Amino acid sequence: MSPLWGGRFTAANDPRMAQLNASLPFDRRLWNADITGSIAWARAICRAGLLTEEERDALIAGLEAVRAEIAADPTAAFADAADEDIHSFVERRLTERIGPLAGKLHTGRSRNDQVATDVRLWLREQVASLDAALASLIRAACDRAEAELDVLMPGYTHVQPAQPIRWSHWLLSHAWPWQRDRERLADFTRRLNVSPLGAGALAGCPFAVDRAQLAAELGFAAASPNSLDAVSDRDFIAEFLFWAALLGVHLSRWAEDLVLWSSREFGFITLADAYSTGSSLMPQKKNPDAAELLRSKAGRLIGGLTGLLVVLKGLPTSYDKDLQEDKEPLFDAVDTLALALPVAQGMLETLTIHAERMAAALGDELLATDLADWLVRRGVPFRQSHHLVGRVVRRAEELGCRLSAVPLAELQAISPIFTAECAAVWNAEQSAEQRATIGGTARAAVVAQIAALRSML
Ligand code: ARG
Repeated sequence: MSPLWGGRFTAANDPRMAQLNASLPFDRRLWNADITGSIAWARAICRAGLLTEEERDALIAGLEAVRAEIAADPTAAFADAADEDIHSFVERRLTERIGPLAGKLHTGRSRNDQVATDVRLWLREQVASLDAALASLIRAACDRAEAELDVLMPGYTHVQPAQPIRWSHWLLSHAWPWQRDRERLADFTRRLNVSPLGAGALAGCPFAVDRAQLAAELGFAAASPNSLDAVSDRDFIAEFLFWAALLGVHLSRWAEDLVLWSSREFGFITLADAYSTGSSLMPQKKNPDAAELLRSKAGRLIGGLTGLLVVLKGLPTSYDKDLQEDKEPLFDAVDTLALALPVAQGMLETLTIHAERMAAALGDELLATDLADWLVRRGVPFRQSHHLVGRVVRRAEELGCRLSAVPLAELQAISPIFTAECAAVWNAEQSAEQRATIGGTARAAVVAQIAALRSML
């Protein structure tokens, strides 16, 4: 396979060098974007007087034929391809179809501005489908939160039972980070949607190409303002990988709760068979593999980000071949999330909750704060009421009884402010309902969260 740059060379590459150099094995997935960019480029250089209209139309027809050929059977199209990269591949297939005219397409263009354009075009489409998958996951969380509003469970800090919350409140506590991920993605899209095409190899295009018109034709909001920056810049990939890594972390924390709660010790949920596996040795096992794998994917996503930042650090200005290493982590992150998001949604939609187990875990101690608040409502400063209830907790331990079973006489020995009415605090539903301000776990506050989230979908 003769490379696009053979003129000044007298000898072929060592086969191992060719293998190291080749990006076609992974950048082939840019084929459609590459052809779209080339068609726009043919139009732009025709407008600049570098092609006749007949030549432009022949180039476009040839490129469309290559597109149709690959679309029909990508595996077959790339089967014996030994080209250096996707750009070389498309140009070779075009030449095989339309002859030497294909050689005019690269006028004023470099693979440096070409590849930067291709990746942006490709990523734009991926971003749209990842956003849709994320919105769908959030919708599933809202649906469950609405349907299971009555279910109470222990809320934790330090994995120690803390205060009663609604199961719906927990669901939404993960839907909000996902929604922020959607907002981050939308913001990122503004910086993604800038066209490097026409930047040339580094210094700009020597022909009168209207870069603004070219950018608009490709659906970009603007042309990049500095050609050197245009071919150097991989900020958009680093930013996307950070986005992916943070979403990975969000999914990981969510999945960890599900792993814990599906254990026999908690028994709050059962994951559907569709998202579990068994053990080859222990017949009784049902393992939460989907949740564990979602938990682990953050590792590779963070690795992709770290890897790219290390490649970029200290890189000399302009295009350097190191930049070819941007693609595999990018593709891997997109593939990872394109699979993880629907799996997360499926797992969420099919898991069973055990409301009675959650209720049984709501011990009196989760209402100790409510008893302190009961004193606060009677004028006791919180620091003091906290201390008094601490003594009640200690007394209950000494008596070997539940907090709610400490006799009134014992309570009054601790503080005369206690009356029989304080027994009203031993009610988890009421505890939840008292947290009715914005963002609280009371029914109305949770309903308001669902409405707010839905309005963003
Ligand atoms: N395959 C290359 C990449 O992914 C395309 C750009 C090559 N440019 C060059 N000057 N060799 O970065």
